[in-house]
Amino acid sequence: MTNSSFFPRTRLRRTRSTVWSRAMVRENILTPADLIWPLFIVEGEQVEEPIASLPGVSRWSVDGIVERATEARDLGIPCIALFPNTPADKRSDDGSEALNPDNLMCRATKAIKDALGDDIGVLTDVALDPYTSHGQDGLLDDTGYVMNDRTLDILTKQALNQAAAGADIIAPSDMMDGRVGAIRDVLELANHHNVQIMAYSAKYASAFYGPFRDAVGSGGLLKGDKKTYQMDPANGDEALREIAMDIAEGADSVMIKPGLAYLDIIYRAKTEFNVPVFAYQVSGEYALVKAGAAAGVGDHDALMMEKLVAFKRAGCSGILTYFAADAARFING
Ligand code: PBG
Repeated sequence: MTNSSFFPRTRLRRTRSTVWSRAMVRENILTPADLIWPLFIVEGEQVEEPIASLPGVSRWSVDGIVERATEARDLGIPCIALFPNTPADKRSDDGSEALNPDNLMCRATKAIKDALGDDIGVLTDVALDPYTSHGQDGLLDDTGYVMNDRTLDILTKQALNQAAAGADIIAPSDMMDGRVGAIRDVLELANHHNVQIMAYSAKYASAFYGPFRDAVGSGGLLKGDKKTYQMDPANGDEALREIAMDIAEGADSVMIKPGLAYLDIIYRAKTEFNVPVFAYQVSGEYALVKAGAAAGVGDHDALMMEKLVAFKRAGCSGILTYFAADAARFING
């Protein structure tokens, strides 16, 4: 062969040809430190309630939550996210149980902080849906519309209540306008200068939240949808406006939710703003992998890891995922 141009000089398969070489050129590596583990809390002692629509996920009483937090710490997971299943008799039109310093969230937060201190971060969700009798995230007017500014008033109190219990990261998931700034102000006034805000900045009105609503017990209560505050899945530019607003109002990090269907938003957010971006791989996404693996679509762990590394490739600093403990165990071998 005399004409060397016959051969491809650049062969991308060269660096793929061996295990060591693939390891050497790998661009993104998922570690347990990339994971935030959402956990559901229920009343009682020594209670574990499996959630049918979320295979492998349970609600735990506060003692069990402390055990899960310890497990997370031991696996190298830096942070857990807490969600309460509020007893039916404590749900009300105005969600006032959210302000009770002795509610499930506060008791779980205190118990974790007493046991583990700064060995693990505790992220608490700010929104009223686990506490309202109607399952909406805010206060309703006579027509059933969620009132923005009246809701802000109660959300700031909810955030303060959580911070007083020891929450490290306040995560408003309500999608009211102005909430990040309002919460930042009350935190500063109360000397919670180092309590972070991770804003659910671009939260879509998604069909993927069903199993979560079962988990916190709001699903059966919810009438209608959340489209007057959560975003239209068709919109991308609007997500960047939400993110810009939240950063301007003092968010330390931003979140895109759901995850995999919104990788373009994650990529644009990271490229445009250079802030820590997190994805929430939500309940329906998790349940679909479980259902797919059970139906023989593919190997469970391979499906799980491929989806999780996609978030890192898109630009995420971390992922909230129900797979957190399983993935950390997989990574740690
Ligand atoms: C509450 C909230 C929801 C989720 C997180 N916080 C549900 C909703 O907005 O209806 C969904 C998480 C998941 O599906 O895993 N505001």
